[in-house]
Amino acid sequence: MKSLTLTMPLDMHVHLRDGDMLNIVAPLTSYSFSGALVMPNLVPPLTTLEGIKEYRHRIKVAMEADDFEPYMTLFYQNYTREFLESVQNHITAIKIYPSGATTNSEGGVVSFDIEPMRETLEAMSDLGIILAVHGETNGFVMDREAEFMSVYEKLAINFPRLKIIMEHITTAAAVEMLDKYENLYATITVHHLMITLDDVAGGMLRPHLFCKPIAKRPEDRSALLKVALEAHPKVMFGSDSAPHPKHTKESCGCGAGVFTAPIALQLLCEVFDAHKKLDNLQAFVSDNAQRIYGICPDFKEVVLIKHDFVVPEMYGEVVPMMAGETLKWSIERVE
Ligand code: DOR
Ligand code: ZN
Repeated sequence: MKSLTLTMPLDMHVHLRDGDMLNIVAPLTSYSFSGALVMPNLVPPLTTLEGIKEYRHRIKVAMEADDFEPYMTLFYQNYTREFLESVQNHITAIKIYPSGATTNSEGGVVSFDIEPMRETLEAMSDLGIILAVHGETNGFVMDREAEFMSVYEKLAINFPRLKIIMEHITTAAAVEMLDKYENLYATITVHHLMITLDDVAGGMLRPHLFCKPIAKRPEDRSALLKVALEAHPKVMFGSDSAPHPKHTKESCGCGAGVFTAPIALQLLCEVFDAHKKLDNLQAFVSDNAQRIYGICPDFKEVVLIKHDFVVPEMYGEVVPMMAGETLKWSIERVE
C-alpha cells in the first residue's frame, strides 16, 4: 500500500480558541502536528505577557501530548519597544488584523498608515519578531485580498528587515508578491487548494466552507496550487482551521471559518498525490516553516497510508470540512 512518512509536520496558522472548545480541538491538532502557530483572536484578544503565558498553559493542559509546541502569537497593537523586549521570548509572531475583517478582529487596526506603526514595526525588525498579516481591505469581498497588495508592498519596502507573512493567501495576486519582495512569505490552507467560490455558494450554500478570506476563482486556486505543489521556499502550510459550533455555522449570520485540523494532513496527501508531488509535501508542511521561522520542533513522525478514511460528522459540537465524506488517505500511526 502506498504510504508517506512526514517528519515534524507544522501547522503555521491555527485557531484553538479557549474553554470547552480548546479542550475539543487542541488534542486534534497536537495528535498529528509537532507544533502550530496559535492565533490570538480570543475574546478579548491576547495583548499581554500574562495572557500569553496563561493561554499557553491552558493549551498545554488541553492538548494531551508532550510532543507538541504551541507557537504563541500576540494580537497587534502599537506596542512599545520595551514591551516587545519583555515578550519576545514568549512569542513567535505578532498577528495584525484589519479591524472587523474577520472573527474577533474588532480590536484590530483601523488603518495601515505607516507612521503610527513605525515605532512598533522598527522594534519588531530589530528584535526579529515576525509579523503575520490578515491581508484584506474592506472593499468588495472578492477583491479584498488583491486590494491589500499595496499595503504589503508598503510594509515590505518600509521595513525591509521585517519578516512579513501573508496569511492564508487566496489569490494569484498574492502569489506574485512572493518573488517581488525578499521579506514577504505566505501560508496557504488546504481548503484553498481544493475549493473555489463555486463550492461555497455556486449551488446550495455550504456554510462549513465559508471562511475569510473567501475562496476565489479557479485561476487563483491554480496559482496557489502551483507554489504549494512545488513547495516554493517562501510558502508553508497553515490550515487556518477555525472551529465554530454547528449551530452558529448553520444559522443566519454564519461565522467565517473552516474546521480542518483533524483531516488536514490526509487532505494534503490527497492533493499532492493527485498531482504526483508527494515528494514535495515534507517541505511544504514542515521544512519551509522551520527555515522561515527558525524553529526546531521536537521529533515526531506521522505515517499516512493510501487507505479510505471516513470523516466523522462531528468533533464535539464542530462540523469538520467534508463531514461524512470518504478521504483517500488516512493516518496510520504517529511516532
Ligand atoms: O475564516 C476565518 N476564520 N478567517 C479568519 O481570519 C478567522 C477565523 C476564525 O477565527 O474563525
Ligand atoms: Zn485565521
